Amino acid sequence: MEKNRKLIIAGNWKMNKTVAEAVDLVQGLKRELGTVKEVDIVVCPPFTALNDVSKQILDSNIWLGSQNMSEHNSGAFTGEIAAGMLKEFSVRYVILGHSERRQHQRETDDLISRKLRAAHGASLKAIVCVGETIGEREAGETETVVERQLRGSLSGVKAGEMAETIIAYEPVWAIGTGKNATAAQAQEVHAFIRKTVGELFNASVAKRVRIQYGGSVKPANARELMSRPDVDGALVGGASLEIRSFSDIIKNSI
Ligand code: PGA
Repeated sequence: MEKNRKLIIAGNWKMNKTVAEAVDLVQGLKRELGTVKEVDIVVCPPFTALNDVSKQILDSNIWLGSQNMSEHNSGAFTGEIAAGMLKEFSVRYVILGHSERRQHQRETDDLISRKLRAAHGASLKAIVCVGETIGEREAGETETVVERQLRGSLSGVKAGEMAETIIAYEPVWAIGTGKNATAAQAQEVHAFIRKTVGELFNASVAKRVRIQYGGSVKPANARELMSRPDVDGALVGGASLEIRSFSDIIKNSI
C-alpha cells in the first residue's frame, strides 16, 4: 500500500501490567517485530513500568509513549508527572485527551491544549485523541463534536509543531466494545479531520499530519482500516495487551 505518511501503531496499555508482565510483553514484541521498518511502533505502559520497558527497548524499533502528563513543568501538583520526568526514560510520545480521561478526569479541550503546548515545549510528540459518543453520532453531530475538540485542543499550537503531532480518531462507542467503526466510517471522519487541520494550519501540515484510528482494532480488521487513504495508523487498547494480537495487527497492516 502506497501512502506517503509512515504508519504509526501505538499500544495503549491503560491501567494494566505489572513491571514483570510489561517486560515479558515488550520482550515478546521485540522478538516478533524486530525486522519491521514500515511502521512506527509505540508502546504506552503505565508510569510504573516506563523505566523497565525503556531499558528493554534501547536499540530496538519500538518507541516509548506515556498515557498522560501534567500541563505544568514542576511544583506543588501532587500525583502529577511532568514532561521533563518522562524524558528521563526516553519517552518520545504522549497520549493526550483520551476519552477515558475526558470522561473520568473531566479533561477539557482547554486543559488538553495546555498539556499539548507543554509537550511541545519538551519536544514530546503528542497523540491527541478526539471522537464522538454514540448519542452524538446518532444525532448527526460527529463532525461538530470532532471539529470543536480539534479547535479547542489544538489552539495556540504553531504549524511547525503540528506536523509532528498525531491525531487519534477514537469514536467513544468503539472503545473497548468490540464494535469498531467500519473502514468507511473511519475514512469519512479522518478526511474531515485532515480538512479541518488544513483550515486551522495550512495545506502542507494537513498533508503531513498522521491520523490514527482507535476503537476495537484487532488483527482481523487492521488491514481493512489501514487500507483507507487517510488512516495512518492505529491506537490499540485491549488487543495491545498480548504479544500475538498486537504483533499481528502490525504485520497485517504492512
Ligand atoms: P480498545 O481501546 O482497542 O480496547 O477499543 C482503544 C483505546 O482506548 O485507545
